[in-house]
Amino acid sequence: MTARQGTARRGLGATTRLDAWWIGPALTGLGFAALIGYALWSVFIWSAPPEAGPYRSPFFSPRLAVDWWPLNPALLTVWSPIGFRATCYYFRRAYYRAFLADPPACAVGEPGFHLRYSGETRLPFILQNLHRFFLYPAIVALVFQWIEALLTLGHEGRWGFGLGSAILLLDAAFVGLYVISCHSFRHLVGGRLDCFSCSAVNRARHGIWLRLSRLNARHMAFAWISWGLVSLADLYVRLVALGVIADPRLVL
Ligand code: FES
Repeated sequence: MTARQGTARRGLGATTRLDAWWIGPALTGLGFAALIGYALWSVFIWSAPPEAGPYRSPFFSPRLAVDWWPLNPALLTVWSPIGFRATCYYFRRAYYRAFLADPPACAVGEPGFHLRYSGETRLPFILQNLHRFFLYPAIVALVFQWIEALLTLGHEGRWGFGLGSAILLLDAAFVGLYVISCHSFRHLVGGRLDCFSCSAVNRARHGIWLRLSRLNARHMAFAWISWGLVSLADLYVRLVALGVIADPRLVL
């Protein structure tokens, strides 16, 4: 191959990559539409949370028993995961690209429909800065989710382990990875330290911060896997509750 042919081929490859910039945002948009659509269907269409034996949908965690609330109790707690995920640094980038094309991808021009760019410094996008505050209810919800997943190991006075337990425990594990790989959580643990080595506490915080930074590099994967598993767990409990499938369970 001559140098000229090589240059032409490299140029063709670059063109092909640039022409395909829309595939990533399109797939992201489809993923969002599917998962948001399922969550809306599950929380708003059904009036009661699905329960089957020891299983309860993680969409409806923590369990609330309130007499004065006539609607689905999930509506009292659902603001927390919605707020946490909607303001997540990774998801912000993803849905800005998927739905606003702002920008659609690296090195791809913006459509130019916004007249003045103010970033996240004005309403409504300034509300994205609430992410660090949504972290605290997310940590509380994670503790409840783990408790409810572990409670599936005991039912009616007997130990047991079913496919539902496996799904709910896996879901709690990945939601945990998603929460502790959060940028705000990493900052909470190791941020605002002027000196990493000045005290034993600072050295310990620095060590945890380094480990969380490695998890943070996989935050995108944890974000999608945990959301998919929450939906899968909800669907599984719903299908068992409706009698569509049976839960294989080993009881001791
Ligand atoms: Fe994604 Fe905090 S940055 S959950």
